Amino acid sequence: MSEQPSAIHSQWSSRFAFILAATGSAVGLGNIWKFPYITGENGGGAFVLIYLLCVLLLGAPIMISEIMIGRRGRQSPINAMLALSREAAANPGWRYLGWLGIAAGFLILAYYSVIAGWALDYVFKAFLGEFLDRDAGEIQSLYTHLMADPLTQIFWHSVFMAATLYIVMRGVNAGLEHAVRFLMPALFFIMLFLVGYAMTSGGYQQGLHFMFHPDFSKIGANAILTAMGHAFFTLSLGMGAIMVYGSYLPPHVSIAKTTFIIAGADTAVALLAGIAIFPLVFANQLQVGSGPGLIFQTLPLAFGEMTGGWLFGVLFFVLLFLAALTSSISLIEPAVAWLVENHGHDRYRASLHAGLACWLLGVGVAFSFNIWSQHKIFNKNLFELLDFLTANIMLPLGGLGIALFAGWFMRAEHSEEELELPPEQFRIWRALIRYVAPPAIILVFLHALGVMG
Ligand code: PFF
Repeated sequence: MSEQPSAIHSQWSSRFAFILAATGSAVGLGNIWKFPYITGENGGGAFVLIYLLCVLLLGAPIMISEIMIGRRGRQSPINAMLALSREAAANPGWRYLGWLGIAAGFLILAYYSVIAGWALDYVFKAFLGEFLDRDAGEIQSLYTHLMADPLTQIFWHSVFMAATLYIVMRGVNAGLEHAVRFLMPALFFIMLFLVGYAMTSGGYQQGLHFMFHPDFSKIGANAILTAMGHAFFTLSLGMGAIMVYGSYLPPHVSIAKTTFIIAGADTAVALLAGIAIFPLVFANQLQVGSGPGLIFQTLPLAFGEMTGGWLFGVLFFVLLFLAALTSSISLIEPAVAWLVENHGHDRYRASLHAGLACWLLGVGVAFSFNIWSQHKIFNKNLFELLDFLTANIMLPLGGLGIALFAGWFMRAEHSEEELELPPEQFRIWRALIRYVAPPAIILVFLHALGVMG
């Protein structure tokens, strides 16, 4: 099956192109914006450790499985699951896993786009020199002003969504590949540079201690669920994004090797972001648990003080915007591929329809930071609700489904044929995907529900 390229979709031009695109999907706001603030909220080192374990033991084997299913299925997640469940003589109901993924991508993109909009707003703040010679309080008030201003947020959210749709409309090769080629290395270098700056700020030791000294007394059931959910979120797993990218992967490319490159790069960027940010938090007596505003209240301080900070500030927020863009295109791609396959839409119309609906929900998210901040469901505003529902529930559930399907339903000869691994490595993957991932995900869910003390 994997020898036949899909008739509707194109393929990546090379293995390198796939790695760039999948790394582009994985590295995004999750690494630079979300990882530091949830680490701050969940007490530091122990949370980081659980997150790393989740990446290694759940994320890597599930990423291998998702790429494998995508490449063998060669279609959008819904149709790939349908095709492979037929091949495995399993229940066609597995296709609902694809549906769950499309829904998750849609809900994530609605808020992702608003946060990416903040990054765009900060490009202009940096450009206009608004960070220069400001103290921590002044930098904080730049952020609170933006939060209080729904129209500015909606404006940038619209710009970001338009940029996403523009790339998605242009299709796999022209649009997606070109967008990531230069971006990833540039982002990596600027993170290294920021880490260098953080080393000179007074809080370096304290920042490192916070991130790497595990104190398990700070970890509750919810923190474990958040760490696991974030492992899925940051690697773009559990919703078909990596699956749909896998479906454009040429045959005989080593799926396991590419997975380790992608997951390694993703983890490196997240750790660098934390190492750059926490020293600034401690050096300026800021709160580690200050939530989604953390990077917007810390990094501008560094840009305001350092030599050349104007340039680095502009560059950093431009790169953050671009990193978000290479992720957002993968959030909407499963829906677009499905509309093309099942509704005969061209990519243009498919992107437009999916994008408009997402944009509308994003307007609600922008309101949730101001005029709707008191409208709560389960004690969460719309942003918090979407984040919790997608990252902590839908993605791990999707990951569970993928692990069960790849480990227990797909025939072993088929996965062997697709993965082309030495027997020893194949056994490790199969043991992880059958006996480690499903029970671990279920246990974390039960623990969070309070079922198990
Ligand atoms: N991995 C992206 C990030 O860390 O920012 C977010 C993301 C993209 C999640 C694509 C899920 C996804 F399918």
